[in-house]
Amino acid sequence: MLSRCLAYWLWVCSLSYAFAAITVYGPTGAERPTGTSSGVGSTAIPIQESWLNAYNAYNNVLLQPPPLPNPLPATEFAITLPSQALNMPGLSIPQRGDFWGFSIEMSVVEQVIGKNASFIQVPFLNLLATVAERAGTVRIRVGGNTQETATLVDSLLDNAMIQKNSPPQTAATNTGQTPTLLYTPELLHLLSEVSSLVNAKWYLGIPMNDTSHLRLQIAEAADAILGDNVLGYQVGNEPDLYASHGHRPPTYNETDYFNEFGVVVKAVQQDQKINNKYKLVAPSLQGQWTPEDLFATGFLDSYASSLNVIAMEHYPDQNCAAEFPDGDFGPIKDPQTVFSEYLTHTSGQKIVSPYLNTAGIAQQLGKEFMMFETNTASCGGFRGVSDSFGAALWAVDYGLQMAYSNFTGALLHVGGQNVSYNPFTPPPTNLSLFNQWTVGPIFYSTLFMSEALGTTNTSRVVDLAANGANEFTPAYAVYEDNALARIALINYMNAQNGVGTINVTISIGGVPVNEPKDTPAEVQVKYLLAPSVSEKEQITWANQTFGGRFQSDGRLSGTEFVQKITCNQGANTCQIPVPAPGAALVFVSRDAQSSGDPTTVTFSTTAVTKAIETLRIASSALATSNGHSGGDFPLSGTSKGSKGGASALRIPLTLVLASFMGALLLIQ
Ligand SMILES: *[C@@H]1O[C@H](CO)[C@@H](O)[C@H](O)[C@H]1NC(C)=O
Ligand SMILES: *[C@@H]1O[C@H](CO)[C@@H](O)[C@H](O)[C@H]1NC(C)=O
Ligand SMILES: *[C@@H]1O[C@H](CO)[C@@H](O)[C@H](O)[C@H]1NC(C)=O
Ligand SMILES: *[C@@H]1O[C@H](CO)[C@@H](O)[C@H](O)[C@H]1NC(C)=O
Ligand SMILES: *[C@@H]1O[C@H](CO)[C@@H](O)[C@H](O)[C@H]1NC(C)=O
Ligand SMILES: *[C@@H]1O[C@H](CO)[C@@H](O)[C@H](O)[C@H]1NC(C)=O
Ligand SMILES: *[C@@H]1O[C@H](CO)[C@@H](O)[C@H](O)[C@H]1NC(C)=O
Ligand SMILES: *[C@@H]1O[C@H](CO)[C@@H](O)[C@H](O)[C@H]1NC(C)=O
Ligand SMILES: *[C@@H]1O[C@H](CO)[C@@H](O)[C@H](O)[C@H]1NC(C)=O
Repeated sequence: MLSRCLAYWLWVCSLSYAFAAITVYGPTGAERPTGTSSGVGSTAIPIQESWLNAYNAYNNVLLQPPPLPNPLPATEFAITLPSQALNMPGLSIPQRGDFWGFSIEMSVVEQVIGKNASFIQVPFLNLLATVAERAGTVRIRVGGNTQETATLVDSLLDNAMIQKNSPPQTAATNTGQTPTLLYTPELLHLLSEVSSLVNAKWYLGIPMNDTSHLRLQIAEAADAILGDNVLGYQVGNEPDLYASHGHRPPTYNETDYFNEFGVVVKAVQQDQKINNKYKLVAPSLQGQWTPEDLFATGFLDSYASSLNVIAMEHYPDQNCAAEFPDGDFGPIKDPQTVFSEYLTHTSGQKIVSPYLNTAGIAQQLGKEFMMFETNTASCGGFRGVSDSFGAALWAVDYGLQMAYSNFTGALLHVGGQNVSYNPFTPPPTNLSLFNQWTVGPIFYSTLFMSEALGTTNTSRVVDLAANGANEFTPAYAVYEDNALARIALINYMNAQNGVGTINVTISIGGVPVNEPKDTPAEVQVKYLLAPSVSEKEQITWANQTFGGRFQSDGRLSGTEFVQKITCNQGANTCQIPVPAPGAALVFVSRDAQSSGDPTTVTFSTTAVTKAIETLRIASSALATSNGHSGGDFPLSGTSKGSKGGASALRIPLTLVLASFMGALLLIQ
């Protein structure tokens, strides 16, 4: 193998040998990971039956799809759209392709992101790359309940990056208990290293458990280590739950949070080590307090200048009785009963409606407005629901609904191995099983969303209230650079006896009367599909998949298939079928069709996708690794804490692993 290495990769290949024992990676990059040992010196561990039921992330629950709605919605209906944005009322503000990002609970960083800056989870990088190559960037928050008590220390025993301490004993109703943790600056170096490989940007949290003894070190250190790769610092995670979680007295109210927030703002202003004092993220209410009640304290008048993001956090339901049987949560909810609540357009609409006013305020103030932590259900999600294809359709619809409603981004929460809603979960062991991750159905929704919005930052979204505003067949249009670019069609129904597929007749132009008819000769369609809404494993996006539980190394496998549909220009119509269940992303591009190069013009991500089909990290990482061109990339590893330091010994292992994939490409 060494002899086949190109000169540039020589060091990589030799290092790969050196680390071969943990370089578990399929040399034939394009193949679907099988879950068995498949790489140089691979150490894959057989799937343990006990994992499946012990941890919610891999549960075996398969629900019954709900019956077809009665009355059945029309399965043939028409959508007529102006081709120019100026003729389409109700468009959102311009949105970015990285709308859906991820929120990673701080206590699971080692499992999900990496042990340290020299040991990064390659599947995590691969997954981020699939989003970043479509969206341009990917936004990730590291925080959650854990951030409130987390403390930055210089070092820990055994060179560990994170040390967890057991949560204090509190009332059984206490749902906010995550381990308190100590962490070293290595955590920030880890994030920085990830950003050097894929275009990932971070949100962190300033602890707020004790505002008389503030701990601002995270912002001081992250400003120095991450620089512009840190987008903001959240101050207060769900402060409206502080009292009920026992973190504040029962009388804790909006005024108290207003006052405490002011203490942090002032301290940040006075801290010479914090460079950017206007990057705060707040108030991250969960729903106990309304934004309006908090704003009535003068919160925005006083602090808007310090805020970068106005944030909320919300889950449409909770499964706390299952997680805390001794708590005061009533009977355990039956996943089968709640399933249908996710299989409807009204779910996303209901979630966003309390926030429409705040979205308008944020827009007036020129602030981002983000759903900072969300997913199907808090307290771990519902087995069989949160990890079903139905949840993927839900997250496509909910994401587009938020974009339409002038949110500017949303973060899907990643909990530990005992939640069923994760977009991705490492295998339940601390060994490195690079190809045995579980990619949840909602991860596919982030790919759909990023392709629907694209990379121009000009995409404006409108909910079309399609099919008489039927809740089972929602549709959205996306106008980019002022012209109709893409249409998203969702079918929540689960076919029975062949009934349920919808057939949507799209007509472009001709409305209002002064617009010429403009339906192209052909459109291209990417489908998000699975055999049923209950399906957990056989999910495809444009015919590609991450495979089932314990089958993914974070790369899509299979051949991408984009359906071409011929339109009837005489009638000014295109017939787009959408299976039951399924979602279709219709790429409308007259320019692309006339230029004869749809792969680069119609949806520019395709070119990248194709290039990366046989390798995930190398091309995107090398292309976007923050200016590391081939020449200096391998040697950019430095001694702890100082980029460009004298020592080149700390070459991150991930670089080795990632580059190893590059080497595979080059030598095969
Ligand atoms: C990083 O973590 C790995 C796996 O736990 C460990 O072997 C290695 O020594 C650590 N490296 C550093 C620099 O701490
Ligand atoms: C806040 O968290 C720190 C670190 O876990 C802890 O030492 C401190 O006692 C906490 N303060 C309060 C008031 O709970
Ligand atoms: C919060 O409680 C304090 C003390 O009781 C009270 O003065 C204040 O008005 C309350 N604030 C709100 C928003 O209710
Ligand atoms: C996982 O959560 C379930 C409740 O959903 C609980 O019964 C079980 O003990 C938890 N398992 C672990 C390993 O924490
Ligand atoms: C989103 O913002 C745009 C631009 O201000 C506005 O026209 C539109 O009505 C807003 N959408 C919603 C759902 O409020
Ligand atoms: C894996 O976890 C076990 C139990 O938590 C621990 O004893 C062991 O040291 C860990 N191994 C590594 C390689 O981190
Ligand atoms: C889109 O916005 C992001 C974030 O502000 C920025 O980094 C990127 O360069 C923008 N892309 C374009 C094409 O303007
Ligand atoms: C879908 O992917 C499979 C697996 O890679 C492949 O065999 C099949 O030909 C693809 N289908 C289409 C229509 O491209
Ligand atoms: C959709 O409607 C068109 C025109 O009526 C028809 O030709 C086509 O077969 C229909 N497709 C499906 C999947 O029903």
